[in-house]
Amino acid sequence: MKYKELVKAARKAKRYSHSPFSKYRVGAAVLSANGRIYTGCNIENSSYSLTICAERTALFKAISEGEKKFVALAISNDEKKFASPCGACRQVISDLAGEIDIILTNGKGKIKEFKTSELLPYPFTSKNLE
Ligand code: THU
Repeated sequence: MKYKELVKAARKAKRYSHSPFSKYRVGAAVLSANGRIYTGCNIENSSYSLTICAERTALFKAISEGEKKFVALAISNDEKKFASPCGACRQVISDLAGEIDIILTNGKGKIKEFKTSELLPYPFTSKNLE
């Protein structure tokens, strides 16, 4: 597996998941073009809609530290069913990271790999605003 270290980082990132409401832990790790890895977890809020997903935590952390280009994003949960990014995260990934490799890994250690455009075909982008 090409992204072994990235997947490991996504799995490890679950340890800080703040998910007292759903009890659904998610970890994510994004690999920037210059080879750095940024991790994130889901952080829930008692006002539910203020929750942020692990994918966006990781990407926002990277961008807030000056990263602009990305290669891959790994997402991990504890379940048998794969962690699959929600619609909001698919939009953010497509917008901020573009066409990257998205690696999904479940609690059994299985792996599935997609491209951004497979998870979000025909996206809304900044070009739509021109
Ligand atoms: N969640 C993520 O962190 N990533 C996803 O791709 C799907 C959902 C989180 C949000 C919330 O804390 C919990 O999982 C249940 O929806």
